[in-house]
Amino acid sequence: MKKIACIILAAGKGERMKSDTPKVLHPLCGRPMLEYVFELAKDLKIKKPVTVLGHRHQEVRKSLSPGEKVVIQKRLAGTADAVKCALSALKGFKGTVLVLYADIPLLRKDSIDKLLKYHIENNVDATILTAQLDKPSGYGRILRDKYSSVLGIVEEKDADDFQKDIKEINTGIICFKSESLSEGLKYIRPNNRKKEYYLTDIISILYKKGKLIDSVRISDTDEALGINSRSELAKANALMQKRINEDFMQKGITIVDPDSTFISYGVKIGRNTTIYPFTVIERGVKIGKRCFVGPFAHLREGTELKDDVTLGNFLEVVRSKISSKTIAKHFCYLGDSRIGQNVNIGAGTVTANFDRGKKSITEIKDRANIGSDTIFVAPVKIGKGAITGAGSVVTKHTKVKDWTAVAGVPARVLKKR
Ligand code: UD1
Ligand code: CA
Repeated sequence: MKKIACIILAAGKGERMKSDTPKVLHPLCGRPMLEYVFELAKDLKIKKPVTVLGHRHQEVRKSLSPGEKVVIQKRLAGTADAVKCALSALKGFKGTVLVLYADIPLLRKDSIDKLLKYHIENNVDATILTAQLDKPSGYGRILRDKYSSVLGIVEEKDADDFQKDIKEINTGIICFKSESLSEGLKYIRPNNRKKEYYLTDIISILYKKGKLIDSVRISDTDEALGINSRSELAKANALMQKRINEDFMQKGITIVDPDSTFISYGVKIGRNTTIYPFTVIERGVKIGKRCFVGPFAHLREGTELKDDVTLGNFLEVVRSKISSKTIAKHFCYLGDSRIGQNVNIGAGTVTANFDRGKKSITEIKDRANIGSDTIFVAPVKIGKGAITGAGSVVTKHTKVKDWTAVAGVPARVLKKR
């Protein structure tokens, strides 16, 4: 393919989110939406996309890898102004310029490949990725002339009633011939309700100059979902979750009820593991093969389960490593723990891992037997094959020796096994 440059627009305020967090950092399935767009650019093999930051740019920048090419849009004067800022960083680049918006995270590589292929093969000046929506409100509408050629895009705020009825929308993704983009940008004026420089105005400008404008329609309209509000965020989140769960099922993991199972992006799960309903598994968690998790389990960051682990109902696990064949079947809190193999953890076990701002570790060695309702006031160490009696409170800095039974409050040694 010819040379392709990519611009990612991420400078906007995201006012409709009514958020203290910059819009593009809001997560979908545990991952900031901006990261999905970066991954897309990477999958397309685009070397160095130029990302335009503006609103709270220091904060957004921190979430990017250090090598990313970034430009700052000083005044948020609209999408055309943002593209202009990016062009200055592309320094006379000649070829195809693909514009991506950071608030459209569901796009798939195939759809953009199709768009680029069409654009390049047909030597088009501007090719718009469009979608046909039953409910097009909120999006820019595609205007066509009597020969059905695209003649412009009108934003919803500036559209008349007739135009509002148009169901073909601008997804926001457009690719340009670099010369036509630079040329067209010069003529954009902020003559609209928002008094912004709209990138979308470039279409009618190029049309009037006799340039070739065309469009490619996206087949799966869900991909085009732009996130401007919290309800769109929830919708996109649900769609992304569906993809993630589908992918796990394809890889041989049983998800009993995908609609009530929430697994973050990037989680790893081994084959033949079963996840029961109402389970939340957060980013970075690793689960081995043949495990059982849930129902109503919450596995948080830093959790690692080896093979054949069973974690039953009503438990929370965080920053914990659990080795193979260990079982915790009923309500538990395991935080900052290191648990060996073949350990049986009784109902109601709690690691009291947090003390005045400090988190401490609970270590439980292989084949230990933890009685129901045991409380570990960390840091504690429980030896190999050791036993705690029901209701024991194992106090801070206790080291229970291998094959020893303890019980009571505080737990005292009963006997060597
Ligand atoms: C935009 C399109 C609209 C399209 C829709 C698709 C324009 C004028 N309108 O509308 O036709 O149907 O996307 O989702 O382009 N941004 C900047 N700098 C700015 C303003 C915005 O970088 O000064 C960035 C935002 O961070 C965002 C993207 O550009 O990632 C789009 O801006 P947004 O305000 O969300 O545009 P929409 O109203 O959704
Ligand atoms: Ca948007």
